[in-house]
Amino acid sequence: MSLELTAPTPEEPSVADDGTWLECIECGAQFAPFEDVRYTCDDCDGLLEVRYATPPTWDDFDGRGVWRYNAALPFEEGVSLPEGATPLHEVPRLEAAIGVETLRIKHEGMNPTGSFKDRGMTVGVRVAKELGVGRLACASTGNTSAALAAYGARGGMETLVLLPSGKVAAGKIAQAALHDARILEVDGNFDSCLDIVQDLAARGEVYLLNSLNPFRLEGQKTIGLEILEEFHEDYGTYPDRIVLPVGNAGNTSALYKAFRELVQSGALDADEVPKLTGVQAEGAAPMVEAVENGWDDTKRWDDVETKATAIRIGNPVNAPKALPGIRETGGTAVSVSDEEITEAQRDLAAEGVGVEPASAASVAGLRKLRNEGVVGEDEQVVCLTTGHLLKDPDAAFEAGDDPEPVPNDTDAVLDHLAE
Ligand code: F0G
Repeated sequence: MSLELTAPTPEEPSVADDGTWLECIECGAQFAPFEDVRYTCDDCDGLLEVRYATPPTWDDFDGRGVWRYNAALPFEEGVSLPEGATPLHEVPRLEAAIGVETLRIKHEGMNPTGSFKDRGMTVGVRVAKELGVGRLACASTGNTSAALAAYGARGGMETLVLLPSGKVAAGKIAQAALHDARILEVDGNFDSCLDIVQDLAARGEVYLLNSLNPFRLEGQKTIGLEILEEFHEDYGTYPDRIVLPVGNAGNTSALYKAFRELVQSGALDADEVPKLTGVQAEGAAPMVEAVENGWDDTKRWDDVETKATAIRIGNPVNAPKALPGIRETGGTAVSVSDEEITEAQRDLAAEGVGVEPASAASVAGLRKLRNEGVVGEDEQVVCLTTGHLLKDPDAAFEAGDDPEPVPNDTDAVLDHLAE
């Protein structure tokens, strides 16, 4: 199986361009990377992966941010704002409260548009330029649309975004609007938006930049590379576990691919790979269902609901890439309630780390797994927080304290404070 952690470095096929090609994860068909626009396998419609003849080692990395890792990417540089190099926060009070040896928070909300999507877009828009396509498009629960709009604008390209009507947080629509994306609000959920944009792409109307596009996941690999490098610098080891929120399972797939390539090059031992642990909201948990049942793919949930709108997804398109990653690394998946998500959002905020609800799911999931004894007290853990607090101001207001009206007078203010 091509997605095994210890799969050897593949032989370079004749279709490769400078050591890079596309390969189907289901049937192994191989394709030239930049000759035609292609998102899935021509032969069996399976998911495609970008493959390299020379996987990267630590010594290949130089510089800062996503493009530090260009030895693991299909190009030397891209359309950049720039992105990556996000903080790996210490959170000592939360670490003690949850009860693990080490807890660090990789805050992807500190990217230029406020989410990890920028890492994928810097690569994806570079590929779009290589292919010479016209209009860029995505379906989105919000963050992908904000990133696409900004990177499209940066690259001087037209952008179209399809959003589930009434279910996208205000900050994200504001970004897409100001960066001048054409915004279509669909009377359906994210999965319906993705169905439509895939149809538009199949008809040649748009270039698809959802995480079904294998090049986007290449950029997102750099989250995993940054975590391993920085953690190793601080502790001389790699984390035992990485906990992340899951929607379409793009990040889960991307981090696993990053680790697989390091194992291929000999930069990492297979037993040093962190356990990939996915967290979903209870109302949108098809990946958790698949992990619990040992399935190779998810079953589509038609009705999904959660206040963590970023991960309100019932048909995770990258599940066939992500499920092997969770299994092969000895990880797991767990679902959490909206109340547990809000509690974790407050706990992170109390450490000065402001995140949107979907991001807090990782911490809520870790707490649950620790309470259940699945995560041990001796573990060193990194939780991924995927989006910034300001993405969803309504959720922040709801989770936080209300402002207190006071008269325009110092003594009255002091009286109020003394109450
Ligand atoms: N967290 C946030 C803040 C997100 O915006 C998303 C996905 C995820 C987690 C899930 O990541 O899909 O890699 O498992 N947002 C997409 C969007 C769907 O359209 O912005 P995943």
